[in-house]
Amino acid sequence: MNRIVVESATKRFGSGVLTVFEGLGLAVRDKETLCILGPSGCGKTTLLRCMHGLAHLDGGRIVIDDLEVRAPRRNVAMVFQHFGLMPWKRVSENVAYGVELAGLPRTTIDERVGRYTEMVGLTGFERSYPYQLSGGMQQRAGLARALALEPDILLMDEPFGSLDAQTREILQDELLRIYQQQPRTMVFITHSIEEAIALGDRIVVLTARPARVRDTILVDIPRPRTVASVVAHPRFVELRDHCWRLLRERLVA
Ligand SMILES: Nc1ncnc2c1ncn2[C@@H]1O[C@H](COP(=O)(O)OP(=O)(O)O)[C@@H](O)[C@H]1O
Ligand SMILES: [Mg+2]
Repeated sequence: MNRIVVESATKRFGSGVLTVFEGLGLAVRDKETLCILGPSGCGKTTLLRCMHGLAHLDGGRIVIDDLEVRAPRRNVAMVFQHFGLMPWKRVSENVAYGVELAGLPRTTIDERVGRYTEMVGLTGFERSYPYQLSGGMQQRAGLARALALEPDILLMDEPFGSLDAQTREILQDELLRIYQQQPRTMVFITHSIEEAIALGDRIVVLTARPARVRDTILVDIPRPRTVASVVAHPRFVELRDHCWRLLRERLVA
């Protein structure tokens, strides 16, 4: 069953001068993690913003649960590349922010803040401000804020892209574990091939701008996974080489 369907999507900027993508089509199935892999500047963030209803297409449409996307919805949450935390709010207040906007009762808010702060491993840091946290911890807080909404669709825009390699792997494992506890539909944008294979059930590889779908790859590595178990799997190298070849096509002058 498809949850998100992108049909002939076209997006332009600058009064039509810059075509980011044109005639783009893809689908995200229920409870799958779809990784979208593409070169920098090909329009991944723009596509995700359109899925979220924060930006609008110039052609085609995006349908979630049989309804065309026109504005953000309560069951869809987004995790941003640069954490998106409010520096003047404590961790607990940042995590609470989305659920407060949703107008849930105080007891529910407090209960969710406690639960998701713990789930992402930030217990003990509830009263800290973002500047007192490492990049990895800030992104944990960003993830907790999205999870606290209990969305059944999670849109993630290179959430681990600015982290160092070790922190990144720890958070990838955390995300695999959180998925294992409660599978949900995820769209995960990345420009890392390894990350796409570790996290994805399928990978959509985009071309350089104007982006189109170059290929869709099934990641036939079983769950439960850890990054280490994926990298050690015999299919890993073949999948990585396949993705590499696709991404390199346009780069070779
Ligand atoms: N609001 C905007 N106005 C004008 N151009 C934009 C805007 N947002 C993105 N772009 C341009 O669209 C292209 C795709 O951007 P983006 O979606 O951020 O790519 P990616 O996330 O794949 O790196 C880039 O050339 C970028 O400069
Ligand atoms: Mg981006």
